[in-house]
Amino acid sequence: MVPSSPPSERHLVLVGMMGSGKTSVGRLVARRLGRAFLDSDEQIEARTGRTVREIFEVDGEATFRALEADVLADALARPEAAVIAAAGGVVLDADNRRRLRDQATVVWLRADPEVLAARVRSGDHRPLLTHDPLAVLERMETARGPLYREVADHVVDTGGAPVDELVESVLEVAR
Ligand code: S3P
Repeated sequence: MVPSSPPSERHLVLVGMMGSGKTSVGRLVARRLGRAFLDSDEQIEARTGRTVREIFEVDGEATFRALEADVLADALARPEAAVIAAAGGVVLDADNRRRLRDQATVVWLRADPEVLAARVRSGDHRPLLTHDPLAVLERMETARGPLYREVADHVVDTGGAPVDELVESVLEVAR
């Protein structure tokens, strides 16, 4: 059996739906832990020189999902434990889920679709929320809730709490 590394030496990955606060919370958690911070969408945009929206619109979702998987695998392969804000759809792929379970401490930032819809903006990296965000988020919650639960070592119910509080909650559970 391969001994698993202690939580403090594993990557800390935040998963959850769009608008759950992965990027803003992750950035601050990384600062507190003195670790590098990696955001999947930012990495995809830096790597391709294009926005997430452009990739979805020109190449289609399957191409985006392949990039999402590559970026996650590369982030998890880094030797230094980092804090990673994974793109919301990362759990749709079984290999991604296996990697997350094997290689990281995973925190699911959970929030109700109503809370997310009130907070989230469509913007250049969220083409899926252009039309009727609440309905989309409700469908996603049904489809993805079990998948986030499957990979999560810890669940933080955000309940619309401010970022500072969520940072403390994540640091508490991931200690
Ligand atoms: C997506 C989430 C977005 C982005 C893309 C698709 C999803 O990232 O990757 O728009 O399918 O949930 P965030 O979760 O960082 O908003």
